[in-house]
This record gives sequence, structure tokens and C-alpha cells, in this order.
Amino acid sequence: MAKKYALVSTKGGVGKTTLSANLGGILADMGQKVLLIDADHQQSLSSLSHKADHGLHKLVTMANADGCISRTEIRNLDIILSDDPEKTINTWLRQSSSHFQYLHAALLGLDEQYDYISIDTKRMRMAPGSCRRWPSGPVIP
Ligand SMILES: Nc1ncnc2c1ncn2[C@@H]1O[C@H](COP(=O)(O)OP(=O)(O)O)[C@@H](O)[C@H]1O
Ligand SMILES: [Mg+2]
Repeated sequence: MAKKYALVSTKGGVGKTTLSANLGGILADMGQKVLLIDADHQQSLSSLSHKADHGLHKLVTMANADGCISRTEIRNLDIILSDDPEKTINTWLRQSSSHFQYLHAALLGLDEQYDYISIDTKRMRMAPGSCRRWPSGPVIP
């Protein structure tokens, strides 16, 4: 089962995305299979070798990660992009807990494929500890 952690802060510019990318890159360099989930709508994680047709939107609306995983240029490092140009995902997540359940259900199918799954987010409810499927504590930059 993948270890899961979240980089969480409601503030922008505190280093969530930087830490997520660097930590993911280091773990991948160590030979660990890593999935980054970019739930911070600034979309600043890039350098892809393959861009998937879908991203976070499908996870939180359909509980399904098929066709959502993009490949980065770094071996062992994959990413689910924040395909949320209208910035609606954060509003949905604030209004309803069912989208969190969809997200966690979508990730269930990925548990055996990765050693680490990281999420870069402004929403504390996405963090480990807020749900039994995210068993460890959040990282707050
Ligand atoms: N540890 C750090 N020391 C100095 N600058 C940093 C550090 N972490 C991030 N930055 C810089 O701060 C800015 C915001 O970082 P970013 O990771 O995009 O924050 P967030 O994702 O929380 O909005 C970027 O320009 C980044 O290069
Ligand atoms: Mg960011």
C-alpha cells in the first residue's frame, strides 16, 4: 500500500508546490514509485513526457483515475494534473464531502502501483488524518 502525505496550506506562496516537486523527485531518484497529485490550481508542476487526457477533475467527479496519470520526464515520477481552469474544484470540495470520497475511491485503485502518493493542496480536508485512507499527518510548509 502506498504511503500518503499532503503538502497543505491555505496560503499561496509558502512552498507547497516546490516541496511537493522536490520531495517527489528525491523519492523517485531513490527508486521509489511516486504519484504527485496537483490539487493547487496554479498548475506550476510541469516538464511532462506524456500528458494524460484527464486530471484531477475526473477523480473528484467520477471517482475514476483512468486516463488521468501524466508521466514526468523523471523516471518513477508520475503526476495527476489540476485540470481546473475555472477554479471550480476548490468550491466543490468546500461545499460537499462526497467529492473527497470520490477522490479517495479513485486513489484506491492506485495503492498497489505506487510507493508514495503526495497531494499538493489548499484544503486541509484532503490531508492525511482527515480520512482513514490518508493515515499519516499533513506536511505544512
Ligand atoms: N524553501 C524555499 N526557499 C526559498 N524560496 C522558496 C522555497 N520554497 C519555495 N520557494 C519559492 O517561493 C515561491 C512560491 O513557492 P510555491 O512552491 O509555488 O508555493 P505554493 O505552492 O505554496 O503557492 C516560488 O517562487 C518558489 O521558488
Ligand atoms: Mg502551488
